[in-house]
Amino acid sequence: MLSENVHSYLKPELKRLDELMREIVAGDFPLINHGLERLINAGGKRLRGIIVLLAARGNGANAAPVEQALETAAAVELIHLATLIHDDVIDRAAERRGEPTLHNRLDNQTAVLIGDHLYARVIHRLTTALERLDIIAALARAVDTLCQGEIRQLHVSKLETPLDENGYLRIIQEKTADFFSACGRMGALLTGDAELTRRLSEYGLALGTAFQITDDLLDYRGRSELTGKDSGNDLAEGRITLPLIHAFKRGAVSTEELTTTPADDIARRVIECGALESAAAVGEEYINRALTALNDYPNQEVGELLRSLVLSISSRNS
Ligand code: FPP
Ligand code: MG
Repeated sequence: MLSENVHSYLKPELKRLDELMREIVAGDFPLINHGLERLINAGGKRLRGIIVLLAARGNGANAAPVEQALETAAAVELIHLATLIHDDVIDRAAERRGEPTLHNRLDNQTAVLIGDHLYARVIHRLTTALERLDIIAALARAVDTLCQGEIRQLHVSKLETPLDENGYLRIIQEKTADFFSACGRMGALLTGDAELTRRLSEYGLALGTAFQITDDLLDYRGRSELTGKDSGNDLAEGRITLPLIHAFKRGAVSTEELTTTPADDIARRVIECGALESAAAVGEEYINRALTALNDYPNQEVGELLRSLVLSISSRNS
């Protein structure tokens, strides 16, 4: 659970964020509306939107106009939703945010098209609502990188390339951390503060890396009633993440076994050899980097909240 203090600090904005997200997706096609509304209502942590909103507070004196921050926050949350719709098709995931995934309720073709539609609608909205080419460029670049990361992951997951820790870190930076970095960057860009923009890009990159490492740990040890998605999916889909890479290094599992041994057996060996603990230690390195990026943050109150987001990732169980 994300820290309560962040939610109470941003309470009016978070309420408005959800309303704005609904407003942006509203249209006259009930199948699309219903599908997207249901996903928005299912919740989610709104972590990316929160980073935009906090970054946009600037140093206190140069805060961005709240409507601009909200438009940007809604855009990143909806694009995140579009990526999850596509990701769940790719990963053949049955559940997301405690609900059946969109492709599970409809079909793959419709889910992919709804994801495309959502992406295009968000970019169009941002173009008209914000008139800030730098923000749109940052967002488009982040989606470009994220797709590249997904493609890279898909190819290594088919075992065309052996994956080591550096290869894994590259993938998660592309598919997850760079987007978090863009959220910090975009929020800060709205304030016009170049030093804050640099600092929050760095913060987002480290936080996002730690976030994905934790996500990958939760796939081994998470409880689906808390995460709202099925556990064990990574192994089932042949995806090599940090715990498995550490188990390879420890000799507890070999790459050949991935195709010959039941997933349950492999997961048990990954857990028993201590790979989850060593993978968590890598996550902690990125937690520390994110905290370092916040040293002497110019807005003390916001700095504390950004810090509590980092700490909530460190103790994340959902
Ligand atoms: C979650 O990874 C997924 C991502 C971080 C990005 C997925 C992006 C795409 C599929 C590209 C979408 C492109 C457009 C244009 C909308 P995960 O599977 O490790 O996490 P999970 O456990 O939450 O599923
Ligand atoms: Mg997935």
